[in-house]
Amino acid sequence: MEKINNYWSMTEGAFNCLIDDERTKAFNKAIKNTVKKGDVAVDMGSGSGVLAMLAADCGAKKVYAVELTLRGCF
Ligand SMILES: C[S@@+](CC[C@H](N)C(=O)[O-])C[C@H]1O[C@@H](n2cnc3c(N)ncnc32)[C@H](O)[C@@H]1O
Repeated sequence: MEKINNYWSMTEGAFNCLIDDERTKAFNKAIKNTVKKGDVAVDMGSGSGVLAMLAADCGAKKVYAVELTLRGCF
């Protein structure tokens, strides 16, 4: 469990998520099927913020991108 928690909090973890095209496309599809215009979305552990941006792109009126580190992905 500690190994998973460490990975989840690593900068490389967020970066690897961002460059995983297949993963990002799958999340894009899921977000398009879920987020409707006017929704409020929360992206917990936002990293680069890519999922928050996808939610905003779907018309969410407000998106909270919550990230533990100040450096985020970069
Ligand atoms: C594996 S990355 C995922 C990034 C992004 N959600 C994505 O899918 O591309 C996990 C992110 O969660 C953040 N994180 C870990 N624990 C957190 C916490 N308790 N509160 C907020 N952010 C957290 C890490 O700093 C890291 O940027």
